[in-house]
Amino acid sequence: MDTRADQTQSRRSECETTVATAPGKVILFGEHAVVYSRPAIAVPVMDVSARATISPGELGGGVHILAADLPAPDGNPGGHRYRLRDAASDDPLRASVELALDAFLHNGSEPDVLVTITSTIPIARGMGSGAAVATAIVRAVGRHFGHDPQPEGISPLVYEVEKLHHGTPSGIDNTVVAYAQPVFFVRGEGMKRLSVGARLNLVVADTGVVSSTREVVGDVRRRWSADTERYEGLFDEIGAVARLAKSAIERGDPKAVGRLMDENHELLMTLGVSSPELDTLVKAAERAGALGAKMSGAGWGGNMLALVEADRAPTVASALRGAGAASTIFSQIS
Ligand code: MEV
Repeated sequence: MDTRADQTQSRRSECETTVATAPGKVILFGEHAVVYSRPAIAVPVMDVSARATISPGELGGGVHILAADLPAPDGNPGGHRYRLRDAASDDPLRASVELALDAFLHNGSEPDVLVTITSTIPIARGMGSGAAVATAIVRAVGRHFGHDPQPEGISPLVYEVEKLHHGTPSGIDNTVVAYAQPVFFVRGEGMKRLSVGARLNLVVADTGVVSSTREVVGDVRRRWSADTERYEGLFDEIGAVARLAKSAIERGDPKAVGRLMDENHELLMTLGVSSPELDTLVKAAERAGALGAKMSGAGWGGNMLALVEADRAPTVASALRGAGAASTIFSQIS
């Protein structure tokens, strides 16, 4: 699009409202080891989502951001609203909007729009909330200014925002969220869609404990630097489990997938990223008849997953809540 066309588009877009969404995600296999280039498997969770709405703003007011679910610093109800250019340069919402404007508006001007964000994805629980918000923003800004952004264009922009969240992301979160498809992911190798031979029924349970991916990933990095041989060995074992899981998922063998989830959880315990709350929920799921269970994401809190036969889902979910889960989500992956 040339600059004059961009300006026309920009003027037209400032009168319209555009909405875009993105799903949450969970990592089924291979978290942490994926940062060290071992394979991992992640799936979208369509039952939760982030939504970005671009609507006309005040004339000459530039871009305003409304994080509608976040408390305003002055306690006012209705969310946290601020001007884009007043936000810190590493504010992930600001970064998402700026990257998208650079990619899609081309003319360097700041449009007069309000970017409203809402999300049902729990924050800081390993469900990809940051990647989903960034994806929804990039998609909405692109569409608002007359483009039809595709996952391969969105994912690298979201990766840049992920770096602000935790420094050295593997790229798996932006990939699975932008493509909204199950992925078999190896760092640097791009998107590989994973075909799911038989539907996977997952109960996702929240420990209620907030955890910072940046801190957990940083802690693993320090321990890896101090004892590289041991940690490389653990990452190899996790990577081998992820490869076996890929075949089990493709051939539709949930029992084997469940056993591999148990193995992956043991390895994550050895890696030092699980927590008493996560281990309690994993044991409760197994006692309630899950095919397998493991923590998911960075760990030290956040969510765990139980793989179940569909008719056991209510029993397993209620056992998990009985064992302390703050909430559960049932999600089917195919
Ligand atoms: C976070 O969702 C998954 C980690 O493996 C970090 C990453 O892949 O960037 C812990």
